This record gives sequence, structure tokens and C-alpha cells, in this order.
Amino acid sequence: RFFEKPALPLQGKKALVSAGPTYEAIDPVRFIGNHSSGKMGFAIAAALHRLGAAVTLVSGPTSLATPPGVTRIDIMSAAEMLRACQTNFPSSDIIVMSAAVADYTPVETAQQKIKKKTATFEVKLKKTTDILATLGNEKAKHQTLIGFALETDNELEHALDKLRRKNLDYIVLNSMRDTGAGFGVDTNKVSIIDRAGNITSLALKSKKAVADDICQIIIDHQKDITN
Ligand code: CTP
Ligand code: CA
Repeated sequence: RFFEKPALPLQGKKALVSAGPTYEAIDPVRFIGNHSSGKMGFAIAAALHRLGAAVTLVSGPTSLATPPGVTRIDIMSAAEMLRACQTNFPSSDIIVMSAAVADYTPVETAQQKIKKKTATFEVKLKKTTDILATLGNEKAKHQTLIGFALETDNELEHALDKLRRKNLDYIVLNSMRDTGAGFGVDTNKVSIIDRAGNITSLALKSKKAVADDICQIIIDHQKDITN
């Protein structure tokens, strides 16, 4: 009894995190995708696990090691990421979609390698399903849903619009203008916006420290909605 550890703040909670890019195949050796190291999402998955949550991490292709204790599902395409997220969404209390999902995918994928013949080459693309918006549509009362936004201009306006359109509780805004933030690096500078439009601007810090700050907001929100 004396040696029992105090319960962790997210003990008994289930979390779902998406991370990394998706690769949309043009042919067996080529793809369309976004820049994304997956570091921010992996840091969030690790932090949620440290706080006691049971974490499922749906990851596109990255070179990162799976954080200890985290259940990882590897996917390649946006369609595969959608399927894995939809399977795990209903049972999850905390959902953080940090993946850089490709917005477009080839209409057709060639079964053989396409040879370079013509001087120009066109690939016809169609929109992928918005995973975050799909989950937002199905959100239940016990769920905290967080998205990311990457913007280069009118950042706040665009981020707030995404938060409302996708029915999120919070959106984490990455600005491309900040140095020390973004692709590949170990630091990030973000603002976190809630449904009321309140903005919390964090200082430039390690992705691990940003993940800890996001988790504190999640803990507070879970307390609010379950009490
Ligand atoms: N997202 C998603 N599925 C997609 C596209 C985006 O789940 N097919 C999620 C991302 O994981 C992120 C959020 O939506 O949490 C915002 O992504 P972003 O690319 O900034 O916004 P989009 O809605 O795709 O709009 P745009 O790229 O035109 O700015
Ligand atoms: Ca996008």
C-alpha cells in the first residue's frame, strides 16, 4: 500500500496519434508526398504514454524509433492512414492528428515503372479524404480532438477556419515564418488555439517540451469534459 504509485494523469485513457508523411504511389518506385520527419507526432505519442495513456501511433514512412510502450501501426498512403485511424477512433479519448497527409493522390497508379520517354509528363491527381475532418464529424463527448495547421500567410485566420470546419477542440499552428521551427529540426514554435479563439503562443522550444505543453492542455480538457 505504502509503495503504491499515485495514478498518472492519463491512466485509463486511450490515445490515437498520427504522424509523418503519406506517400502516394505514382508507380512502384515513385511517389508524391510532403516533407515531414514525424518528430512532433512521435514526441506527442511518447509524452502521452509517459502520462499513463494507452497510445496507438499511426505512422507514415519515417526513420524514427517507436517510443517505448507505444503501439505503432505503419502505413504508406492517405487511404491506409484513414482506415487505421477510423478503426481506432471510436475507442480513443484523445486524438492528435499531426501527420502531413498528402492532399492529392494519383488517379491511377502504374503497375510497372514508367519509362522516361516524353519531354513533359503529367500525373492526374484527385483529392484524398480529409482524415481529421472525417473524425471531427464523428466526434463524441468524451473525446479531445487536436489537429495541426501549417500556414505561410494569414496564419491565425486560416487555423481558426480549420478548427471550426473540422470540429476540433484545439489546433496547433506551425508557422513557416519562424526559424528553428518546422521540418526535420528538433525544435518548434507553435501557437495553440481553442474553440473560443483563445491563442496560447509558446516560445521556441524542443519538440519534447512542445509535446509536454500540448499534453497539459489535453489533461485539462479531459478533466473538463469528464466532470
Ligand atoms: N489532415 C488530414 N487529412 C488530410 C489532410 C489534412 O487528417 N487529407 C489533417 C492534418 O493531419 C492536420 C490538419 O488536417 O492535422 C491540417 O492540415 P493542413 O495541411 O494544414 O490543412 P488542409 O486542411 O489540408 O488545408 P491546406 O493544405 O489546403 O492548407
Ligand atoms: Ca494539406
